[in-house]
Amino acid sequence: MNIEKHKMIYEGKAKRLYETASPGALIQEFKDSLTAFNAQKKGSFEGKGKINHQITKLIFKYLSDSHIANHFLSSIDDRHMLIEKLQMSPLEVVVRNRVAGSLAKRLGLEEGMRLGAPIVEFYYKDDALGDPIVTEDHALLLGVATRSDLDELKSKALDINLLLQKLFSEIGIELVDFKLEFGRNAFGHIVLADEISPDSCRLWDQKTQEKLDKDRFRRDLGKVEESYKIVCDKLLKKLGAKA
Ligand code: ADP
Ligand code: TMP
Ligand code: ASP
Repeated sequence: MNIEKHKMIYEGKAKRLYETASPGALIQEFKDSLTAFNAQKKGSFEGKGKINHQITKLIFKYLSDSHIANHFLSSIDDRHMLIEKLQMSPLEVVVRNRVAGSLAKRLGLEEGMRLGAPIVEFYYKDDALGDPIVTEDHALLLGVATRSDLDELKSKALDINLLLQKLFSEIGIELVDFKLEFGRNAFGHIVLADEISPDSCRLWDQKTQEKLDKDRFRRDLGKVEESYKIVCDKLLKKLGAKA
């Protein structure tokens, strides 16, 4: 597909955003860079952008088929996708099915503990503050969401959790936790945005419990590229024909 990149409007840690001829659409480019701990740790591997583009594309199409509105419009080439331009919420929504990462640290719980019901958390996207966890009252205080927005974000995140848990379990992967970003479109609707990939999820092999996500980079576990490829190949095998 030949869609032209216009001005670059944002360069982030893992992606770039470009304007297009259409005011309602942006191009999202997936970079090869890999960062952790608010970019204090930096790395990359060749082809990472392509893999995350492919994974995000497959998952967003699967979610569209399951009636979850999201920003994906079309794929342009192997690292660029056309997306609906949104007014992004500064709240990141994390859903957890097992204790891991910052939850284990914050509450002194053992990583891997199963949760009876999924937990939803909000984080305030602000690099200078280090993206702090916030309560719903904090979000209201900051004026970044209304009570009804918070309810909607939570309910959408839990719906997405059910769909993604099902998808990953069908390919032998357990969805431990993940982060979502949402934005508002021109019609005022809250829409899922950004990416869903091993950068933004914890994914464990169901049988071996081996980590297949960015924790391999965060914790220097090796086989980062191989793990991202395993996730991509499994999703392609499961959903590729429909992509
Ligand atoms: P970061 O900003 O954390 O460094 P990225 O490198 O992933 O992260 O940058 C992508 C940026 O694009 C994020 O800030 C994200 O909020 C924003 N974004 C994602 N989807 C959309 C969208 N549909 N419209 C506008 N901005 C978006
Ligand atoms: P955490 O345990 O470090 O809070 O991470 C929870 C989930 O959110 C995990 O799947 C990784 C993802 N995540 C991001 O996508 N971006 C981030 O900046 C952080 C901190 C976590
Ligand atoms: N997303 C953050 C970063 O890129 C933190 C992380 O994923 O660990 O620095």
